Amino acid sequence: MSNVFPDGFLWGGATAANQVEGGFHEGGKGPNLADVLPGGKENRLKLLSDTGFDFEMDTDKYTYPNHEAIDFYHRYKEDIALFAEMGFKTFRMSIAWSRIFPKGDELEPNEEGLAFYDRVFDELAKYDIEPLVTIAHYETPLHLIKEYGGWRNRKLVEFFERYVTVIFNRYKDKVKYWLTFNEINGATHMPLFGLGFSPENEETRLQDSFQGLHHQFVASAKAVQLGHEIIPGSQIGCMLLYAPVYAYDSNPENVLYAKKESLLFNNFCGDVQVRGEYPNFIDRYFQENDINIEMEDGDLALIKEGTVDFISLSYYMSRTDKKNKTPEELGQGNLIGGVKNPFLEASDWGWEIDPKGLHIALMELYGRYQVPLFVVENGLGAYDKVEEDGSVNDDYRIDYLREHIRAMGEAIKDGVELMGYTAWGCIDLVSASSGEMSKRYGFIYVDKQDDGSGSFDRSRKKSFYWYKNVIATNGEEL
Ligand code: BG6
Repeated sequence: MSNVFPDGFLWGGATAANQVEGGFHEGGKGPNLADVLPGGKENRLKLLSDTGFDFEMDTDKYTYPNHEAIDFYHRYKEDIALFAEMGFKTFRMSIAWSRIFPKGDELEPNEEGLAFYDRVFDELAKYDIEPLVTIAHYETPLHLIKEYGGWRNRKLVEFFERYVTVIFNRYKDKVKYWLTFNEINGATHMPLFGLGFSPENEETRLQDSFQGLHHQFVASAKAVQLGHEIIPGSQIGCMLLYAPVYAYDSNPENVLYAKKESLLFNNFCGDVQVRGEYPNFIDRYFQENDINIEMEDGDLALIKEGTVDFISLSYYMSRTDKKNKTPEELGQGNLIGGVKNPFLEASDWGWEIDPKGLHIALMELYGRYQVPLFVVENGLGAYDKVEEDGSVNDDYRIDYLREHIRAMGEAIKDGVELMGYTAWGCIDLVSASSGEMSKRYGFIYVDKQDDGSGSFDRSRKKSFYWYKNVIATNGEEL
């Protein structure tokens, strides 16, 4: 393939504070959502779909892998040096809100927390690695969850505004690229992660989720405005969990169904954050589902003024769906629902692998919004085997990434404006949905196992050298 990636394309890797940092009690940090999520696939998945979680820890019964995570808190220098060795142009990370405001509702920030991210940004600057910072990545301070009920409560808008004002002012000379809420549209599927609440019951789930989302739209718009004021030239994006929805067959009933599901899941949040308006199609959905959003005067004007500069997205899978599913088909789809696609293989965690879906996603998004796109998450969670000589021959990961990068190249040829690509979990980290270490994404292996044992030593996998060459050739050699 001839080189289609533009000069200055931002190659790199992505992480989130709670999945790498550890140091959960250090530097004055307060507890957050991730600190009370137990390890283990069954435990996590149950929590994500359950109602009524009390956000308490039970250390007799569960392990809490995010407490130590991979100890980036102490080892960031070594890790950043490895990213630099791969040639990263950018590194996506998040700021843990509860390091800056340990409870979330204080008036004054925690200096030690602020100083930690200064050190991280300075270390990145040493290697000319541009930070790309997610402001909220599934790590709402626990106090805001327990005392206020998470994002259902309008008060969080005010606390968030204080938090972003502090970090924009503090890091204005160090960070240019920001993302507001990670995978904002995943909130209605998994309110626990994005909105920091566990639904009381199935009846209130939708109403509360959309109300929480409205608060995040307002908070995000405010952050965009503040960011532009405080940091001239900053670029602030939204972040969508994008999964194209395919109709199971050409039956128009299924095509229409897939179209509507896609609008609701993939486009609703983008329409609000990019176009600055609630889309027309949502009115009917709200009516039919008895959803009433409480808004304050000025909310819609603020949303209109605080539109994002670019769209970032995570892409792991597509979804195939049909209107009437048989009982056998129900639950056969992947993490985000639907039915099994007979043309696709799945990962060991049942996530269907579909590089062409990324090409489709980028064309759909660019076609609808015409703003620059940034793929900020993509990758294969897989079991890795360490050979006797210490090597990890992860050809399956290389194959996966190669095909997805190719798909991005094809989308660029189709006119899509793409700013960059940050592979998810560029260093092994704690999985969000399964709380496992064994679901590994990294180019860098971390010797930490599911039971918490291990030396925490880092080593280079085969994919490390492969990705280094991809970056060095600006995507020409795959
Ligand atoms: C995204 C999240 O949904 O997918 C990340 O933004 C997460 O936090 C990633 O880690 C991969 O999912 P998982 O469940 O395999 O960790």
